[in-house]
Amino acid sequence: MTMSALQLAAQHRVDARLLVEVTDEVAAVEAELKLLVRSQLNLVDRVGRTTLEAGGKRLRPAFVALAAQSISETSDKQRMITMGAVMEMIHMATLIHDDVIDQAKLRRGKPTAATEVGNTAAILSGDVLLAKAMVSLAQDGDLEIIRTVSEAVVEMAEGEVREIEARGNFDLTEDDLLNILRHKTAGFIECCCSVGALLAGADEHSRSALALYGHHVGMAFQLVDDLLDYRGERSKTGKAIGGDFREGQATLPLIHLRSRLSEGEDKIARRKFGDHTSDDEIRMISDWMATRGSFAETERQAKAHATAAVNALHRLPETRARKLLEIVAAYVVERVN
Ligand code: IPE
Ligand code: IPE
Ligand code: MG
Ligand code: MG
Repeated sequence: MTMSALQLAAQHRVDARLLVEVTDEVAAVEAELKLLVRSQLNLVDRVGRTTLEAGGKRLRPAFVALAAQSISETSDKQRMITMGAVMEMIHMATLIHDDVIDQAKLRRGKPTAATEVGNTAAILSGDVLLAKAMVSLAQDGDLEIIRTVSEAVVEMAEGEVREIEARGNFDLTEDDLLNILRHKTAGFIECCCSVGALLAGADEHSRSALALYGHHVGMAFQLVDDLLDYRGERSKTGKAIGGDFREGQATLPLIHLRSRLSEGEDKIARRKFGDHTSDDEIRMISDWMATRGSFAETERQAKAHATAAVNALHRLPETRARKLLEIVAAYVVERVN
């Protein structure tokens, strides 16, 4: 099982004492998730359980809990746990659908749900998980939270649609790419932070600071994810390498590389893009990215977002939860190494 966000942060440079406070919540979210994904339908139950048991960093529940605690140490723990589990369940459903869209075979180091049960069953199971998350949200009953989460889910789904529209476009502009990343990933992480803020009864000023933090962490996170798609090790990412290039999805490393290719190299890259590219060909393109500064530029932009995230927190009081949010922002970009 992969490590949770907080365990991973701990491995980096977290003072262990800082973690004690949230360890209970992390365990409680896990228990809540197990309950929430249960279904009397074997298929849904199986897809939910295997996705959960395959691991994952549980970043989104960590954002909910830490955002709430950065506002008030006495935030309602049970609601925080339920909302953390709700956000993780929505994320799970998205991943199950995303792997159908991306035709991905590996997720969290294990075969994807679609590989195990087929595309149709995976899509339907993802729908059930998403709908179950909505039931829990409604049971909590906070209209502002329901509105925030529903809007973020629409934004995320629209992000996936925008990405599909950009698929096969070798010449995608950097602005269009960043817009896609904002919609498909950053908006939802921003939402997790907003939900935490709302649970803790934050004022508008603090809520917008946490939302801004979430936006920037989300951007940093997806930029790093896109870099790791070329340069990551399968044993660490739990995903196959080169998926974006094979799928014809232009991300920042490729967009940066484009103008640094010779005419001959450009021809090769265009021909291979979105095609059955071999591992050796992915390695060749990845070598070009390494030597021509494309990874460095992606890392630079990710770091700039992580810094902006931490700066947004300066508007909040200096609490242990705020410190942990800073550490999670640092961890997100340290993943590149
Ligand atoms: C994967 O998210 C999808 C992206 C937004 C890149 P995570 O990398 O947080 O996935 P898990 O939950 O840890 O598996
Ligand atoms: C996933 O984006 C974004 C969402 C889940 C909305 P990717 O397709 O880049 O994520 P991975 O690489 O499959 O995790
Ligand atoms: Mg994908
Ligand atoms: Mg995708």
